[in-house]
Amino acid sequence: MNRKFSNILVTGGAGFIGVNFIRYLFEKTGFSGRIVNFDALTYAGNPASLRDIAERYGSGRYVFVRGDIRDRAAVDQVFADYGIDAVVHFAAESHVDRSILGPKAFITTNVMGSFTLLEAARSAWKLSDGRLRDDVLFHHVSTDEVFGSLGETGYFTETTAYDPRSPYSASKAGSDHLVRSYHHTYGLPVTISNCSNNYGPYQFPEKLIPLMILNMLEGKSLPVYGDGKNVRDWLYVEDHASAIWTIMNKAADGESYNVGGENEWENIRLLERLIEIVAKKAGKPVRAVRDTITYVRDRPGHDRRYAIDCSLIKRELGWKQSVDFEGGLERTVDWYLANLAWVDAIRSGEYQKWIEANYGRRG
Ligand SMILES: NC(=O)c1ccc[n+]([C@@H]2O[C@H](COP(=O)([O-])OP(=O)(O)OC[C@H]3O[C@@H](n4cnc5c(N)ncnc54)[C@H](O)[C@@H]3O)[C@@H](O)[C@H]2O)c1
Repeated sequence: MNRKFSNILVTGGAGFIGVNFIRYLFEKTGFSGRIVNFDALTYAGNPASLRDIAERYGSGRYVFVRGDIRDRAAVDQVFADYGIDAVVHFAAESHVDRSILGPKAFITTNVMGSFTLLEAARSAWKLSDGRLRDDVLFHHVSTDEVFGSLGETGYFTETTAYDPRSPYSASKAGSDHLVRSYHHTYGLPVTISNCSNNYGPYQFPEKLIPLMILNMLEGKSLPVYGDGKNVRDWLYVEDHASAIWTIMNKAADGESYNVGGENEWENIRLLERLIEIVAKKAGKPVRAVRDTITYVRDRPGHDRRYAIDCSLIKRELGWKQSVDFEGGLERTVDWYLANLAWVDAIRSGEYQKWIEANYGRRG
């Protein structure tokens, strides 16, 4: 399989991974077409993270459209306006804690929004004889959380049974099933990736790694859920971008691949490592920062361990991770230290004002 795309619709391209994926395509691949970034700009979306890309590439190569994937007319319009021949579907509500407090937005966006997008793609890519084009692709970005929780041993593979346990992972599982069903039922060319925890630049400050870095810099306490022994497999975000691009270019229609860092860390061990890096760079005594660790009541239904077996994508498509954890954490801490203004602008509402001035009020 060797595909060529001219007009890629990236949904949720103003969020953490979407921003990094768009940067990766422009800066690290030979992609010469256009990217249309379609994003509703929820609290997690920030088109200012791509302001330099917009300036450098101009509207011939990069377009931002504010829109909601649940709005069929808006999605149809973007397919019609830009001759879309590939979709990379990131748009989602993505924070587990928020899904526990308010699951509804997760169902409407992750399930209904994905359904709306699939229907729009099916309609836009229909040929006059009723069949669907085969030179297009719908890539769905999903998570390892759909597989549930592991004990101390074992790994998630592509054939592990789905067993989602939070409203977030259940809604992502629902969207994965819908995407597969559109391939089997209607012949829509699709690929799917299920990836482990990402970290890196531009991650919203509520997520574990940026939250801890920022709390350390500000001398705030470092909250750790439960006993701190939940295990996650961490992947540098640019390696996730390269995996998605590899799958889009090389995978057969209908295939799913697991993507991971082969890099398991207990939360508390990860935090201790992060403290050493931040303390050194910020000139703070390690012990004083460590003393701010505070154990808090565990998240309800907190999955114990996730670990990905990503041997299939390595073997079949030749992908591999390029950033080791030490180097990736250093780069991430350096990025936050150099971009505290980005964080401040989110927290102070400055970006909010910029978004409202340029794109209207947030819904
Ligand atoms: N962050 C991770 O570690 C991780 C790991 C594996 C998979 N994923 C998946 O990758 C995708 C992106 O994750 P992220 O961490 O970048 O999320 P994020 O929350 O940072 O960004 C989500 C983006 O989607 C947009 N969005 C939300 N609802 C929308 C709607 N109805 N219509 C249009 N846009 C909407 C938001 O404005 C935001 O820009 C998600 O599908 C997530 O499930 C994330």
